[in-house]
Amino acid sequence: MEIPVSKNKEYVVDIMDNGFEGEGIAKIDNFTIFIPNTIKGERVRIMIVKVLSSHAFGKLIEILKASPVRETEDCQTYKRCGGCQLRHIKYEETLKIKQNAVQSLVNKTLKQKIEVEETLGMENPYHYRNKAQYPLGINKEGKPVMGVFANRTHEIIPIQNCLIQNKQAEEVAKFIFDFIVKNKVSIYDEKKQKGLMRHIVTKIGIKTEEIMCILVINGNEIPQEKELINQVIMHFPNVKTIVKNINKQNTNVILGKENIPIYGDGFIKDKLGEFVFKISPLSFYQVNPIQAQRLYQIGVDAAQITKQDIVFDLYCGIGTISLFMAPFAKSVYGIELVEEAVYAARENALINKIDNAQFIAGDVEKILDDLINKQKIIPDIVMVDPPRKGLDRRSIDNILRISPKRLVYISCNPATLVRDLSALEGLYEIKRLKPVDMFPFTSHVECVAVLELKNCQ
Ligand SMILES: C[S@@+](CC[C@H](N)C(=O)[O-])C[C@H]1O[C@@H](n2cnc3c(N)ncnc32)[C@H](O)[C@@H]1O
Repeated sequence: MEIPVSKNKEYVVDIMDNGFEGEGIAKIDNFTIFIPNTIKGERVRIMIVKVLSSHAFGKLIEILKASPVRETEDCQTYKRCGGCQLRHIKYEETLKIKQNAVQSLVNKTLKQKIEVEETLGMENPYHYRNKAQYPLGINKEGKPVMGVFANRTHEIIPIQNCLIQNKQAEEVAKFIFDFIVKNKVSIYDEKKQKGLMRHIVTKIGIKTEEIMCILVINGNEIPQEKELINQVIMHFPNVKTIVKNINKQNTNVILGKENIPIYGDGFIKDKLGEFVFKISPLSFYQVNPIQAQRLYQIGVDAAQITKQDIVFDLYCGIGTISLFMAPFAKSVYGIELVEEAVYAARENALINKIDNAQFIAGDVEKILDDLINKQKIIPDIVMVDPPRKGLDRRSIDNILRISPKRLVYISCNPATLVRDLSALEGLYEIKRLKPVDMFPFTSHVECVAVLELKNCQ
């Protein structure tokens, strides 16, 4: 096929759809062009910035006919920061875009005709994140800077007022950065791999308002550490712990393995529903707890657990969903790779007086196999919440073989979710598939799918 567009040339196109990342899709002589920041129904002037053999990428130059769902952008750094992708679209419409994106994957992949439910949105989709990770660096003028990485680069854009981050935690991070600059503490230079301060990470319990600060350093000691701690806790009494995280590797991974509490005990607590959870530096905790609670509730209600049921919670993190399920179940087994998270899960069970949940550290692929094939513990209900890569083949085969009556699949990646559902749909009826907007104004979509064994009474 002859490619009908050339790099750096301008074209006028009609946007016919929105893709998975929220980008607009247009065609020129049947050749597909992806254009960020454009909306279905718009007529726009674009410049082609990249041409590949099967498609091209364009840059928006001028909107000739705007969509009625276009929103005035409310963030100064939106165009450059990679945090949000959908701030130019009215919130209600972003929920439809997410629902449609999941529906189109389902239509392409699954044999069962599934109608994806409406996306469950937030009443107030602002400042919802409880965790922030700010890189520190030196800008082109040689000045220290803290902020967010510009989209697909390692250039740091200074933070203004992020509309999805928690305001208090942002203030704490800015305060620590100011202290570092004032006291001339050295800042890590990624190119030279020299300097001390790499990242400031904050976690906040939205219900308890307890804050954890993690100072990621390329070294062992922070100069004026005591003074820094005193200043922080004097200005922000709800900072409950400050942790030094040692990361001397030349890597994109933000946190190193070693965490040293320099103030407090290295944990904060938060409340989800009736339960209190201990949160540590390395363990996973949903970044939007308001939506997480609603997501868990949908999953737990759909699981229809009874006091006769043995329930497995695969990829259980610090045991959040396990504890939500335990009061209804005979027993719950949580499996999780990160040991620190498993310790936290056990402690969370104790704090919340749950005595029918146990947690096992290890890879789901191996531990699940072990539990059902060696220890002969067969679950009636399985809950899974894997990372983006989805389930491994051995675990899917094991689930199919023991065929629990119900399976609830929580996923942060609809592509792998639908892939796994297609492996399960022979034996299972997909009763519900509901997106939950865990990450408003970003292109990320969280889903909960409810599966029931076919012909199960
Ligand atoms: C999406 S999180 C879900 C955590 C928990 N269900 C929650 O809602 O807080 C996925 C979890 O899987 C864990 N994980 C990743 N790969 C794993 C594996 N192969 N085996 C067991 N756990 C794994 C991660 O450490 C993380 O805690």
